[in-house]
Amino acid sequence: MAGGKYLENLWYVAGWSSDLDPGDRVGRTFLERPVVLWRAHDGTAYALEDRCAHRAMPLSAGVVDQGAIRCPYHGLEFGGDGKCIRIPAQDRVPDTARVRAYPLVEKQGLMWIWMGDPGRADKALVPDYPIHENPAYAWRSAHFPVKGNWQLLIDNLMDLSHLPYIHANTIGGNPELHFKTKTRSEKLTNGVRVVRHMPDSVPPPTYVDAAGFKGKIDRWQEIHFEPINIRIHTGACDAGSGAYDGNREGGFSMLGFHGITPETATTTHYFWSMATNILDNGVPDEVFEQTARTFREDQEVLELQQFRLTQNPAAPMIDIASDVGGRHTRQLIARLLREEEEVAALVP
Ligand code: FES
Ligand SMILES: [Fe+2]
Repeated sequence: MAGGKYLENLWYVAGWSSDLDPGDRVGRTFLERPVVLWRAHDGTAYALEDRCAHRAMPLSAGVVDQGAIRCPYHGLEFGGDGKCIRIPAQDRVPDTARVRAYPLVEKQGLMWIWMGDPGRADKALVPDYPIHENPAYAWRSAHFPVKGNWQLLIDNLMDLSHLPYIHANTIGGNPELHFKTKTRSEKLTNGVRVVRHMPDSVPPPTYVDAAGFKGKIDRWQEIHFEPINIRIHTGACDAGSGAYDGNREGGFSMLGFHGITPETATTTHYFWSMATNILDNGVPDEVFEQTARTFREDQEVLELQQFRLTQNPAAPMIDIASDVGGRHTRQLIARLLREEEEVAALVP
């Protein structure tokens, strides 16, 4: 487990755009660093170090006033670039009166933040998630604070063999089926892809409720990891209708987006959305309610794991066959962490 070490030079999800109306601010911790996210009255969102340059008061306790955020203690005001633009009862604002500004990009309903070297924050590298803009899908989002290390959440999402145990009443399906299902994992240049197919299987309760399957289904789970978010496409078509040859017309799809942003070594921001194709009967609320219930079940597991891990962090853990995707992910993260360390060592 990487513990307190984090990947720095990548875009992390900082929140949902809908978290902030103009004039709002919220304090969040990313990679153990306090950040205030705020939206100016012209609609632009910013991310600043959440610590006033004067006496360390959290700016998130202050207020947004047009294009600045004002510290609640002695009234210093900071612009979106982190520079102080006003000190009450003082004409000159020294250059040292500034807080760190973090690059922030809003795209497709998500706010993305760059916590690393600002010189490397390339906006072209912000992950693309067009599903959020596709009118054929309906989606909802949430932010779960998880009392568990970020890698536990990655493990959880990369290995869906826990479904019949943890999620028996929602998206699970029967354990026998999951036992028989092979997990194939493939390393990509900057990612990992895991595929599981479950042909001719009994549909789980959520699928029956949402899509009204009458008989057996050809079911798929396709997981795509890139540092650090995971997209999971699960779904099904009537058995034998060609789903594995790409014919998924008339089927049922659930597309999960999972943004995983470390808060501390033992806590994680889990930003997820669930999108589903709009069928003739619309989108039952149940799909979203069951998704939220499902992820709460995972949240509980992670918290129990973290409790045990904290009691004895050095105790070994074993891998099983279905961990292959998670193992590939850990290898990729370890390589990226090593590369970041090497680059950092070159800087005088
Ligand atoms: S601590 Fe912020 S203005 Fe004094
Ligand atoms: Fe789960």
